[in-house]
Amino acid sequence: MGLIVIGLATAISPGPFFPGGIGIYKDDFIPGLRQFTELMHKYGVKTAIQISALGVLPRKDGNLELVGPSDITVDRHPNAPRPRPLTAEEIKMVVEAYSTAASRAKDAEFDAVELNALAGTGLISHFLSAHTNKRTDGYGGSIENRTRFLLECIESVKQRVGNEYPLLCRVSGADFMEGGNTLDDTKIVGSLIERAGIHAINVSTGWHESPVPFIQMSVPRANWVYLAEGIKEVVNIPVIGGTRIPDPYLAEQILAEGKSDLVYIARALIADPEWPKKAKEGRTDGIRPCTACCTCFDSVIEQRSITCAVNPRAGKETEYHIRPASKPRRVCIIGGGPAGMEAARVAALRGHHITLFDNKSRLGGQLLTAILPPYKEELANLVKYLSTQMERLGIKVKLEQQVDAVTVEKEKPDVVIIATGAS
Ligand SMILES: Cc1cc2nc3c(=O)[nH]c(=O)nc-3n(C[C@H](O)[C@H](O)[C@H](O)COP(=O)(O)O)c2cc1C
Ligand code: SF4
Repeated sequence: MGLIVIGLATAISPGPFFPGGIGIYKDDFIPGLRQFTELMHKYGVKTAIQISALGVLPRKDGNLELVGPSDITVDRHPNAPRPRPLTAEEIKMVVEAYSTAASRAKDAEFDAVELNALAGTGLISHFLSAHTNKRTDGYGGSIENRTRFLLECIESVKQRVGNEYPLLCRVSGADFMEGGNTLDDTKIVGSLIERAGIHAINVSTGWHESPVPFIQMSVPRANWVYLAEGIKEVVNIPVIGGTRIPDPYLAEQILAEGKSDLVYIARALIADPEWPKKAKEGRTDGIRPCTACCTCFDSVIEQRSITCAVNPRAGKETEYHIRPASKPRRVCIIGGGPAGMEAARVAALRGHHITLFDNKSRLGGQLLTAILPPYKEELANLVKYLSTQMERLGIKVKLEQQVDAVTVEKEKPDVVIIATGAS
């Protein structure tokens, strides 16, 4: 693992617009952030924090006000409030907020800072994109002018934290928004920010509001790496590419072909936090596969704690631990779908003796049907992973068995788990 980037951390208080998010807009947050970096460093991991100022500013009366480069909203609701265009003085204030936030990150001992300039998730991307930036002053018009705000942020951050402190910038390779930036525009941004002293460019894809699927199961793996490749053509600093790279061999291939200098991996690490370790040790068939179902993203967008469809521990790492059982028991599990197999896997890891029944000739349950429509192929990897775990853990699997009370009694189980699915 090269670098763990956490985000997005707000440089200006977002009030109720970003509940549960990470804040870096007050010195009070430094001790908590330092606890995080200390933990990362204890395991020898370098870590960066991604900083963004969302489009809100406090008014004199203490309430928050939506602001932006122009009065353009990306909210599709017909009555969505429009942001108030920032004054030149306010722009300076926001630039200052970025540099203060970066210096807090340095105080909290982050190894690097990443400026969030992507996906419509902050003022920088709203300034960069002609979709939201209709200004007629020096911050609007040409792509060079639209990049001015970002360049001022970079200059201000560097003055504050020093030229040597690693500074990354994450951009959308293309906005995929009407009238928004194309790859050619982002190439100009890339050249400008390289000249301004950015040390690496992280190239993501699109905006949250884009009418194009970017991360869903239907998007081919590594589909967007060409954007990083395009930026690499015009800069000499390291370029990071990614999205839909759940497989270490694919990541390796992208690097070997020189399409990007590093790859970013997000959801595959939620699905299996041991992904890098297993990849390094060549245990790739033991990686719990991310199916790109986006359940994790939905939970965050709906402002719930993160959940993952394939990793029950995601977001509950401090609650759920797989510990050896004090007394191994005989466990009978009825149903060889994902829930039954996961129950069998965890119980076996705890040292219990498992018999898993299913009435079909193959393990997989409802997933075997779910994989049939087009674009659902990723689900087959989950069936494969779980079935492999049944073999590895020596779980007794009895297929084509219609289970009744007599069948169960014959097993003399201490515990019966019914995992026959919801109906
Ligand atoms: C739950 C969740 C939260 C995310 N938060 C951020 C974020 O704060 N900043 C950011 O730049 N990208 C964020 N992303 C996007 C990821 O960094 C990544 O670009 C995207 O998930 C595609 O990569 P993947 O296919 O490896 O998941 C988030 C993604 C997920 C699933
Ligand atoms: S919820 Fe779905 S997309 Fe998100 S990490 Fe888990 S498997 Fe991947």
